[in-house]
Amino acid sequence: ATTRHYKFDIILQNVTRLCTTKSIVTVNGQFPGPKIVVREGDRLVVKVVNHVKDNITIHWHGIRQLQSGWADGPEYITQCPIRSGQSYVYNFTITGQRGTLWWHAHASWLRATVYGPLVILPKRGVPYPFAKPYKEVPLILGEWFNADPEAVIAQALQTGGGPNVSDAYTINGLPGPLYNSCSKIDTYKLKVNPGKTYLLRLINAALNEELFFSIANHTVTVVETDASYVKPFDADVILLTPGQTANVLLRAKPASPNASFLFEARPYATGQGTFDNTTTAGVLRYQNPNASASSKTKLPLLRPALPALNDTSTATNFTAQLRSLADASYPADVPRTVDRRFFFTVGLGANPCPQNQTCQGPNGTKFAASVNNVSFSFPSTALLQAHYFGRSNGVYTTDFPTNPPFPFNYTGTPPNNTFVSHGTKAVVLPFNTSVELVMQDTSIRGVENHPMHLHGHNFYVVGQGFGNYDPVNDPANFNLVDPVEKNTVGVPVGGWLAIRFLANNPGVWLMHCHIDVHLSWGLRMVWVVNDGALPNEKLLPPPSDLPTC
Ligand code: C2O
Repeated sequence: ATTRHYKFDIILQNVTRLCTTKSIVTVNGQFPGPKIVVREGDRLVVKVVNHVKDNITIHWHGIRQLQSGWADGPEYITQCPIRSGQSYVYNFTITGQRGTLWWHAHASWLRATVYGPLVILPKRGVPYPFAKPYKEVPLILGEWFNADPEAVIAQALQTGGGPNVSDAYTINGLPGPLYNSCSKIDTYKLKVNPGKTYLLRLINAALNEELFFSIANHTVTVVETDASYVKPFDADVILLTPGQTANVLLRAKPASPNASFLFEARPYATGQGTFDNTTTAGVLRYQNPNASASSKTKLPLLRPALPALNDTSTATNFTAQLRSLADASYPADVPRTVDRRFFFTVGLGANPCPQNQTCQGPNGTKFAASVNNVSFSFPSTALLQAHYFGRSNGVYTTDFPTNPPFPFNYTGTPPNNTFVSHGTKAVVLPFNTSVELVMQDTSIRGVENHPMHLHGHNFYVVGQGFGNYDPVNDPANFNLVDPVEKNTVGVPVGGWLAIRFLANNPGVWLMHCHIDVHLSWGLRMVWVVNDGALPNEKLLPPPSDLPTC
């Protein structure tokens, strides 16, 4: 294992997309940001220097951060933001993980432009559990706003309504040829050799949309999601929520075909919500050394058949096929017994409109979102510091409701109480608690799944269904043999999902919806995991350059 050093200078950079040039916040002037490549067991040291006016933090999405919670990154949870002119060194070891993850800003909506791939190769000499691919290619799906994303969310929070939607989706930062004429030159092109196998490292970095992805005339084999190997299966369509990743094998056809192929991504959303329903595309082109330049340009361009925007059966079939590899080398460590059971509602709600203001939420209310009806408010300092130094008073309380505050039917009619309460509340868990958590979508304005992301832990998805969760009969069908291991999972719209995890990482861990507008509206909560008795069960002391608020 080695130590790998990176420097992230947060700087403004002029970027042109869709004929619009604007100054965006970037890492080192790159959009998307630099690709980080490490090996399992390596130490990663990244010095972040903030040269812009906005506060920023960087999060290493899906990295376990064992004993190193200070490097996790979410603002006001594990650290105060890095202010203009300041710097902070993220320093952590990558333990027991390999695959595709990513990094992104975790302050306000800065991740719209501040994100990049984080590739973890297996330890030297350890092969993949599939044939070694000829080449590996990250494909990051994102969103492009002609406006400033910070202004978009600020405006939405001020008016109480929803934000303006993005102007395009992107693949590796490029919108592709299906938008306006300017976007044709902004197209990501993937050249392949006939007969070779490529590992595509797919990442959904979009702010607010779950995305279907498909390649014309090519079926891929899914081998990994969220940096956990799965039983390989073939798929024509991939579904990724914001935050999720997937490794898929693309087998190029044995001989160069007389065509080029688009790969496209567009949303999966079940309702009539306000969202960007456009399509991004890149071009898959075969190397053909024998063809003349002129015949190359005349090749027809074939398009994939993406599912309809509201195709829930394709979405459900895809996720149902995700199973842990669960073999001798990569066992599924699903907690067999459960110490604590929780039932959380996740969903949208509202708040009364403040006096002398007009609000653009439903029926003149102000949009909010909550877990068990609590919309999480940021404190003015970071929870992890407060926890570590025993100064939680006035920062957070430990009375997060472990059940919904009122019973209701989740299958259609909104409950009588859609007004949320606000608080900075945590659930405290002793070290090594095994947790079962059922999350139920409240169906209030059911439009999209809620991709719930847990920091500092992976979890196993042991069950899911539509309608109301039935605590008597549903657990009998839980998969404790080979459930998929994830860090982000979509709670189905109008349904529920059950996960299990072992709280074996001391610290303060955010859990939230990875749709940024829901996160901004408060769909987030925190778990405090106490230290264990042994030295390797304790959170280490904070680094000396930890930012202060
Ligand atoms: Cu990918 Cu809390 O984030």
